[in-house]
Amino acid sequence: AQAVAQDIDLAKKSRIEKILQRGELRVGFEAGYVPFEMTDKNGNFVGFDIDMAKEMAKAMGVKFTPVNTAWDGIIPALMTDKFDIIISGMTITQERNLKINFADPYIVVGQTILLNMKHKDAVKSYKDLNDAKFTVTSKLGTTGEQAVRRMIPRATYKSFETETEAFLEVLNGKADAYVYDLPNCAFLYDQQGKGKVVHLDTPFTYEPLAWAVNKGDPDFLNWLNHFLRQVKNDGRYEVMYKKWIEG
Ligand code: ARG
Repeated sequence: AQAVAQDIDLAKKSRIEKILQRGELRVGFEAGYVPFEMTDKNGNFVGFDIDMAKEMAKAMGVKFTPVNTAWDGIIPALMTDKFDIIISGMTITQERNLKINFADPYIVVGQTILLNMKHKDAVKSYKDLNDAKFTVTSKLGTTGEQAVRRMIPRATYKSFETETEAFLEVLNGKADAYVYDLPNCAFLYDQQGKGKVVHLDTPFTYEPLAWAVNKGDPDFLNWLNHFLRQVKNDGRYEVMYKKWIEG
């Protein structure tokens, strides 16, 4: 009975109590979304989101535990308690927000295009791609995919499991354009795209990215929003931003 009473007590509490009790912040993300979360040569997770997650764990006084999770199962994994929070460049969409809560946006991005060089004169915006003769790629279950389906409906859409595969298809000339979040396109362009693809870098969607937690936990959201405000204004955010996104 005592154990049951304890369970009930814990169930009422904020996720914060569990994090402190365990002494770890378990962060769910899917590595591969450069430069937010990726795996380096030594197999370590690195990137803007990873640095932010470490900073968050530090502010809580607990250890950071990364939980690399497939994108298509990341929301169910949060809901079934595989980790405490999603920090994975996730766009706040109204559909996702019916299932989970989001903290305030930590960055606002939008969809842009990496276009195969051969179309540089013919294609100047996403509107020019709206023709079945163009093959457009993106990643399964993302807002990139949603943007292609909704805003470039006539294009031939090809979905991939990873950002890398979707981008390489365009780099290799097997597809015409890769549609994805601005910082991801900018990073891929700098690293591998120069001279081979063109970055049409005017965002054509509005996408606030935010950390996601389970519903019914105002204490956790309150902590996250104040933590975000603090890092954004005391210089820590700027350091991370310059290191991963602007640099
Ligand atoms: N912002 C996009 C979305 O929410 C893409 C995020 C992909 N993140 C990742 N870690 N693979 O759909």
